[in-house]
Amino acid sequence: MGNLLKDKNILIMGVANKWSIAWGIAQKFHKEGANLAFTYYGDKSKESLLKLLEEEGIDNHLLISCDVTKDEDIENAFLNLKEKFGVLHGVVHSIAHAKKEELQGNYYNTSREGYHMAQDISAYSLVAVARNAKPLMTEGGSIVTLTYLGSERAVKNYNVMGVAKAALEASVRYLAVDLGPENITVNSISAGPIKTLAAKGVKGFNQMLKEFENVSPMKRTVKTEEIANTALFLCSDLGTGITGENIHVDCGYHILG
Ligand SMILES: NC(=O)c1ccc[n+]([C@@H]2O[C@H](COP(=O)([O-])OP(=O)(O)OC[C@H]3O[C@@H](n4cnc5c(N)ncnc54)[C@H](O)[C@@H]3O)[C@@H](O)[C@H]2O)c1
Repeated sequence: MGNLLKDKNILIMGVANKWSIAWGIAQKFHKEGANLAFTYYGDKSKESLLKLLEEEGIDNHLLISCDVTKDEDIENAFLNLKEKFGVLHGVVHSIAHAKKEELQGNYYNTSREGYHMAQDISAYSLVAVARNAKPLMTEGGSIVTLTYLGSERAVKNYNVMGVAKAALEASVRYLAVDLGPENITVNSISAGPIKTLAAKGVKGFNQMLKEFENVSPMKRTVKTEEIANTALFLCSDLGTGITGENIHVDCGYHILG
């Protein structure tokens, strides 16, 4: 147990199961003394989350259902947070979704509907979340989101999600400018591939993982705990002064030519 997040009230969005990056972050934050709240999407995620919280011994938490495509769900989540905590110090946004059939083949086959869905869930949601978090972050705060290299490079099969991640990373910069005067930082972590539910939606993901392991400078894949450590740094008092940044936690893969 550490105390890097002692007395900090933090919302974690995006735990679906024990493999979720958001769950790795929640475990780490709990160990560092944070008061945690969670939003979940769907009954299956709620069940998994309740079980995980019990196993981990995380109690006195707040659990809120939130479909990020619905403004009223997001608004309701932050009303609940205001009631429970009054002040919020951090938000971890670990949410993305695209149609499985559009995470393969040619990008030009992306449908209008699929494009909108990927943008809405994976990029716009951060904007709505930041807008609702701002009034609660009266002591300053940190907003962290998760992204992937497919925003900067054309990664096979990542397609519409790569374009959504590019919008997400641009949003991070604009939000950082908007919220900087309130002492609220906004950053993204560009994680290397990790086997999770969302990742398995990308065609050929296992092969991508193998290739990553073979060629990354560190000759291995990244661990969820390493992503969590970076989120911890950004949400703790160690990370103040960094905003609008995209930190690659990918064993150096992104530097390769
Ligand atoms: N796993 C990887 O290789 C990897 C790499 C880089 C970045 N990321 C990013 O990390 C984040 C978390 O993904 P993960 O890999 O932990 O997978 P995950 O499937 O565990 O998490 C994705 C989450 O998004 C939630 N979600 C989907 N639609 C939603 C909606 N309409 N409203 C609210 N929530 C919704 C799901 O319920 C789930 O909890 C995503 O942004 C993902 O793009 C993942």
